[in-house]
Amino acid sequence: MASGPVVDLARRNFIRAAGSGLALVAVAGRAHIAEAQTAGSPLKIGMVGAGREGSALGKLLIRAGHPVMFSSRHPEDLKGLVAGLGPLAQAGTVEQAIAFGDVVAIVVPYTAIEQIGKAHAGALAKKVLVIDVSNPIPRRDGEDFVKSVNAQGGAGLVTAKWLPGSHIVRAFNAIGSGRLAENAQRPEKVGVPIAGDDPKAIAAAEALIREIGFEPVLVGGLAMGRHLVPGTPLAGEHTPAEIRQAAAGLR
Ligand SMILES: NC(=O)c1ccc[n+]([C@@H]2O[C@H](COP(=O)([O-])OP(=O)(O)OC[C@H]3O[C@@H](n4cnc5c(N)ncnc54)[C@H](OP(=O)(O)O)[C@@H]3O)[C@@H](O)[C@H]2O)c1
Repeated sequence: MASGPVVDLARRNFIRAAGSGLALVAVAGRAHIAEAQTAGSPLKIGMVGAGREGSALGKLLIRAGHPVMFSSRHPEDLKGLVAGLGPLAQAGTVEQAIAFGDVVAIVVPYTAIEQIGKAHAGALAKKVLVIDVSNPIPRRDGEDFVKSVNAQGGAGLVTAKWLPGSHIVRAFNAIGSGRLAENAQRPEKVGVPIAGDDPKAIAAAEALIREIGFEPVLVGGLAMGRHLVPGTPLAGEHTPAEIRQAAAGLR
């Protein structure tokens, strides 16, 4: 595994910002996470979905020192992506990426999450954090599908239903993939609204978000995840203060 100053800094920042490395260990319940933390090595990230948004987010995580396994149902298609990202990047199947990650990001069309849950819910439930970046979008997923998701509580609660037992935080849902890298560099931090129910997963997400150059803003529990989709007042690029103000008016 890669190591060095950047990686060690990333790990230290993660543990500090997460509040308690021991708490993370307890939640994860996995010996290798405990070993990784005490050894000062980075968090491994499994990316389920390596399209526009998954690849853009993965690049930022690699820049912060985290090994990332990008995945596809056709992993051979990802050779070009990982070849340009250095030794922290690799490609695999969805199953391999989930097994690899201490943290897993789900960055797929929302219609795919139910099937991913059927195949991998048990493995995902063991992760300290599952970041749900996916959105139900009428134009792509169909009006009826989106209505059905909303009738069940919206993105967030439905993700939890399809990935039972996972420690889910919705994040990065409505900043365009083409704008992520630039926004991560801004001196005045861009806010990332997040929603989740599990305190340790929230702390882990907040730490990762800060590491890659944004400021997390917790807007509420997973039920509030339905507001973290394109087209709402929380979508797009905002300061943390603007996000707090917009979130205060949402129920
Ligand atoms: N694009 C953005 O700016 C943006 C911003 C915020 C959030 N999002 C959200 O992020 C999600 C992905 O958007 P995108 O624009 O990155 O889409 P995309 O470029 O079309 O990529 C979709 C990815 O999902 C994977 N995928 C599809 N079905 C799958 C399945 N059944 N199992 C496993 N992987 C599957 C695809 O992998 P294969 O190689 O296997 O096909 C591909 O890597 C969407 O929900 C979107 O709303 C997008």
